[in-house]
Amino acid sequence: MQIDIPVLSKRTNGDLETHSTKYKSESKGRNVYIETYGCQMNVNDSEIVAGILQQSGYSITDMIEKSDVILLNTCSVRDNAEVKIEKRLQHLRHYRKKKSKLVVGILGCMAERLRGQLIGKQDLVSIVVGPDEYRKVPQLIDQAIGGEMGIAVKLSKVETYDDIIPLRTEGVSSWLSIMRGCDKFCTYCVVPYTRGRERSKPFTSVIKEVVQLYEQGFKEVTLLGQNVNSYSDIESKVDFAKLLEECAKAVPEMRIRYTTSHPYDMTNELIETMANYKNICNYIHLPVQSGSDRILQLMNRHYSVEHYIERMNKIKELIPNCATSTDIISGFPTETEEDHKQTLELMEIVRYDGAYMFNYSPRSKTKAYMMDDDVSDDTKKRRLNEIIELQNKIAAEINRNEHGLIHEVLVEGPSKKNQNEWQGRSDTNKVVIFDNSDGLIKTGDVVKCKINNSTSATLFGSIV
Ligand code: SAH
Ligand code: SF4
Ligand code: F3S
Repeated sequence: MQIDIPVLSKRTNGDLETHSTKYKSESKGRNVYIETYGCQMNVNDSEIVAGILQQSGYSITDMIEKSDVILLNTCSVRDNAEVKIEKRLQHLRHYRKKKSKLVVGILGCMAERLRGQLIGKQDLVSIVVGPDEYRKVPQLIDQAIGGEMGIAVKLSKVETYDDIIPLRTEGVSSWLSIMRGCDKFCTYCVVPYTRGRERSKPFTSVIKEVVQLYEQGFKEVTLLGQNVNSYSDIESKVDFAKLLEECAKAVPEMRIRYTTSHPYDMTNELIETMANYKNICNYIHLPVQSGSDRILQLMNRHYSVEHYIERMNKIKELIPNCATSTDIISGFPTETEEDHKQTLELMEIVRYDGAYMFNYSPRSKTKAYMMDDDVSDDTKKRRLNEIIELQNKIAAEINRNEHGLIHEVLVEGPSKKNQNEWQGRSDTNKVVIFDNSDGLIKTGDVVKCKINNSTSATLFGSIV
C-alpha cells in the first residue's frame, strides 16, 4: 500500500477543519471515501474505521469521484459543526446523480446524537453509526448495498478498539487514542452523551502501539483523549503520568505530545514527568473556558480560577519554556460584563501562546440547555471579538520575544503558500517556516532554526 503524507492540522478543536486523508489502497474491494470533521479523536477514529474496512476487503480511497461508499465522520460539539454536515450532504446529492448505487453513511458524534433522524436525510443517508459501533461498519455497508438502511448507535463501557490496527497514512505525526468517552459532564458539553463513559485502553496495548508507530517511521505521536490526564488502566493501576513516562522511555527518539488535559487532574507528577523527559514536548493545552469562578461553577468545571493559576504557575516553574494554550467559551448563560472582564484578566495573567475561542452554543440533553441562553448574539460576538483581539496581541508579543532564539523543528513539508518555503513544528508546537529552496531538508528531519520574524500564529526562521 502506498500512502501519501496526510494534510492534517496539528491543532483542531471541535468543528474547525475537515480532514480528508490521502490513501492509495491496493486491495480490490469496493472503494470507501472517509471525510472527517471535529477533533483529533475523530481523525484517529477514521483511521480505525479504515483499518476495520480494509480487513473486510474494502479499499480506502482519497478520490471521492471513484468511491462507492462515502462516510462522513461528524462532530456535534457546536451547532455550526452540524450545519456544516447538512450543507455537505446537500452537496453530495450531486455524486448520487452520477452513481445511483452510491452508499452514504454518517459516523461519529452527530450519528450518536441524532440517530434515526439522520436515516434518509437528503434522500441519501442509509447508514448511521455511533463512535462505539465501528466494528459493524462493514456489515452495515454490505446491507446498504443490498438496499437495507442500517443504524448502530449503542454506547459501550468497554470498547477501546485496542485490537484494531488503524490504517494510518505515512508521515511525520500520528494520533493514538488512549481513552474514550468522558465522565466530567461540563454543563455545556455534548461529548459525554455522544461518546459515552470514560474508559482507558490497556497500558500494554498503548506501549505496543507507540513502539509500532516508531517502527513504521513516525517521528511524533500525540496521545489522545477528551481527558487524557484522567487515564487509568484498572488492571495495571497505571495512571497518565506513569503512562507518559513509559511511552517516553519506550521510544526515546520520538516526540510525544498529548491532548486534552483537564485542569482538575493536572497533577504535579504529570508536570514533573514532562520536565524529566526531553522527548515529551514542552506544550500543554489546558482549557480554562472562563475566568469567572461563578461561571466555572455553573459550567461544572470542578476548579477555581485560583487553582487554575496555581497549576499554570507550577507548569512554568518546572518547565520554564513550556508553551500553553486554552479553550474559551464566550457568552455562557448569565455571563455578565464583569465575568467577561475576568476572562480577559485571566488571559493577561496566563499569557497563552494560543487559544481556541468559541461562542456558547446550546446543546440539547446538556444541563446548560435548561438554562436561558440569555446573552444576546451581538453581545456574545462582541465579547468573543475582544477575547480574540487580546489573544492575538498577546501571542504576537510572545512570538516577538522569540526572535533570535533557536528552535528544534520537526519538518512536515512544503508550506501551503510557497514550495520553496517549508514548515515544521517547534517542540512548543509552533509552526516555523524556513527557506528550503535548495531542497536539502526532507520531511521528517529535525533541524535547528533561528527565529528572525513572526506573526501571532507563525514563526519565520532560518536553518543554522
Ligand atoms: N475535552 C476537552 C475538549 C472538549 S470539546 C476539554 O475538556 O477541554 C473542545 C472545546 O469545545 C471545549 O473545550 C469547549 O471550549 C468547546 N465547547 C464544548 N461545548 C461547547 C458549546 N456547547 N458551546 C461552545 N463551545 C463548546
Ligand atoms: Fe466536554 Fe467537559 Fe468532557 Fe471536555 S471535560 S469533553 S468539555 S464534558
Ligand atoms: Fe466533536 Fe465529538 Fe470530537 S462532538 S469535538 S467529534 S468528541
